[in-house]
Amino acid sequence: MKNQLNKTQSKILITGGAGFIGSHLAESLVKKGHPVTIIDDFSTGRILNLKAIQDQVHLVKGSVLHKKSLLKLVEEADVIYHLAASVGVKYIIDNPLKSLEINIKGTENVLEYAHKCGNKPVVIASTSEVYGKNDKVPLKEDDDRILGSTSISRWGYSDSKAIDELLSLAYYREKGLPVIITRFFNICGPRQVGTYGMVLPRFVKQAMENQDITVFGDGNQTRCFCFVGDLIGTLSKLPFFNKAYGEIFNIGSNQEISIKELAQKVKKVTGSSSKIVYIPYEKAYQKGFEDMYRRVPSIEKINKLSGFKPKVELDNIILKVMKNFQKEASYDL
Ligand SMILES: NC(=O)c1ccc[n+]([C@@H]2O[C@H](COP(=O)([O-])OP(=O)(O)OC[C@H]3O[C@@H](n4cnc5c(N)ncnc54)[C@H](O)[C@@H]3O)[C@@H](O)[C@H]2O)c1
Repeated sequence: MKNQLNKTQSKILITGGAGFIGSHLAESLVKKGHPVTIIDDFSTGRILNLKAIQDQVHLVKGSVLHKKSLLKLVEEADVIYHLAASVGVKYIIDNPLKSLEINIKGTENVLEYAHKCGNKPVVIASTSEVYGKNDKVPLKEDDDRILGSTSISRWGYSDSKAIDELLSLAYYREKGLPVIITRFFNICGPRQVGTYGMVLPRFVKQAMENQDITVFGDGNQTRCFCFVGDLIGTLSKLPFFNKAYGEIFNIGSNQEISIKELAQKVKKVTGSSSKIVYIPYEKAYQKGFEDMYRRVPSIEKINKLSGFKPKVELDNIILKVMKNFQKEASYDL
């Protein structure tokens, strides 16, 4: 397929563009010269996230579930980044029905209209959660999913995003829709909030307020934290790689750290006097809650395509998150 996209002028639609990752992506694309339109229902997104570019983007307050307004925006776009979703373990557990509806129907709407409007390229934001309980190290894109019981709400996120991937690949194979699937692994940085279950901003906030840093479980579970800027460097250029279409890419850091060590690091970097306390999963979330023990991506495939390499170290990410919280607090004065 010949790539018709213009690297600075293609019109970009970002669903969920007022969110943490979406707002960084929008900023980067605006800087490159692209006209950017955002649709967001502000369920977890914030107008504050768009402070720097508010006058430079076309912002539509609305839902990807509202077909009419979505169709108009897809018609006007050259490329669609679909990031709108219910996100965060806590949010998914508190809103199981809404999450499934948005994450499945919303994606279906985007894919259907991208096809109807002349097969416009779509980048789909998926997640490491699709691997379920598979804690193989490192996880490659074609590794198996190990599924938890449907009685545990958290797996609704994993399943809904896996359906998104299957739908996307079906549109690619049957209808020729150019789709790219990106699986993010614990992306973090300024503007991410801890309210919906994201561990790093939650720890930083607790440390800054000298409150207990609450580790869920025994803290031996590991994750890899990737700076949002490192992700955006690659995400913003993905649609321009012909070879990316019809493919799935892990994107994240492969530097593993236990959550217990993360708590200690946050405490040290922020200079906090907080105590680190441990809360059983069942108390933190819900009865029968399950977590995966390790989560390390293989980033070989995305590196080969785009040269992607995570650069920003964890200490520096923590500092940037702390400084952003301080900056945001000063807006309220
Ligand atoms: N942050 C991560 O580490 C991570 C990891 C894996 C996958 N992802 C995926 O990346 C994407 C962005 O996540 P994020 O971390 O920026 O979270 P976020 O909550 O900040 O962003 C999601 C955005 O979607 C918006 N939204 C939700 N429902 C909507 C609807 N019906 N219509 C329009 N907008 C709607 C929210 O208001 C929010 O602005 C999501 O698809 C998420 O599943 C993120």
